[in-house]
Amino acid sequence: MLKIEHLTKKYKSIVAVDDISFTLNQGNIVGLLGPNGAGKSTTIKTIVGLLRKTNGSITVGGYSNTSREAKKKFTYVPEVPELYDMLTVWEHLKFIGYAYNVANFEEKAERLIERYDLWDKKDKLAKELSKGMKQKVSICCGLLPEPDLYLFDEPMIGLDPKSIRETKLIFKELSKQQKTVLISTHLLDSIENLCQRVLVMKKGEIIVDMAMEEMKSKLGNNENVSLEELFLEVTKDE
Ligand SMILES: Nc1ncnc2c1ncn2[C@@H]1O[C@H](COP(=O)(O)OP(=O)(O)O)[C@@H](O)[C@H]1O
Ligand SMILES: [Mg+2]
Repeated sequence: MLKIEHLTKKYKSIVAVDDISFTLNQGNIVGLLGPNGAGKSTTIKTIVGLLRKTNGSITVGGYSNTSREAKKKFTYVPEVPELYDMLTVWEHLKFIGYAYNVANFEEKAERLIERYDLWDKKDKLAKELSKGMKQKVSICCGLLPEPDLYLFDEPMIGLDPKSIRETKLIFKELSKQQKTVLISTHLLDSIENLCQRVLVMKKGEIIVDMAMEEMKSKLGNNENVSLEELFLEVTKDE
């Protein structure tokens, strides 16, 4: 579904992503972990085509990531919501509904509004929303087209507990539907019981690419070892 080969991204002289390769097969729910500045957002933005890669290749469903065919196959929820100030919540969903030609978009949009408790905000302009509400609208926009591949950059940041629970539930549903999902996060508990595989980035490189089970058993199959401890262990500086 997503194939990345020898991807490098430099910002002038800074190498933010350094020759990484990985593949996500259909149905994979994968956590992209790593400390601040590891290169997670840069990787995702390059996949989406918001940043131009310096080197390497990225394909989505066999098509180059910047092609129209590829763009129909994925959605992206950015780290910081990017909404249109002068559109209402409902107009955002309508816009996405038309842009992606979503069948029965009204029904699906209403269901998302329900799940994220946005009914009373439906006709509010984006510029009037709080940060958390913007994040919810941004997630709804990412979910509405029901694509094959979802790229979420720190989706839980700014969400209230109920929306975090709802988002985790949605991830589980996507998994059941054999969708492919990449979730970048440093909130480890949010993906601990969700992802079958984890990629850990550090200083632009992928230092771990492992099944969750394997990662856990590596540290002695101790049920008390949390993903957080694993994470600190593998990312600590020598
Ligand atoms: N627009 C930019 N210009 C220059 N350097 C950047 C820019 N965006 C990110 N970086 C640098 O690239 C590296 C990776 O950043 P980022 O991808 O945001 O990491 P993460 O999402 O894992 O926190 C960091 O060293 C960061 O300072
Ligand atoms: Mg980031």
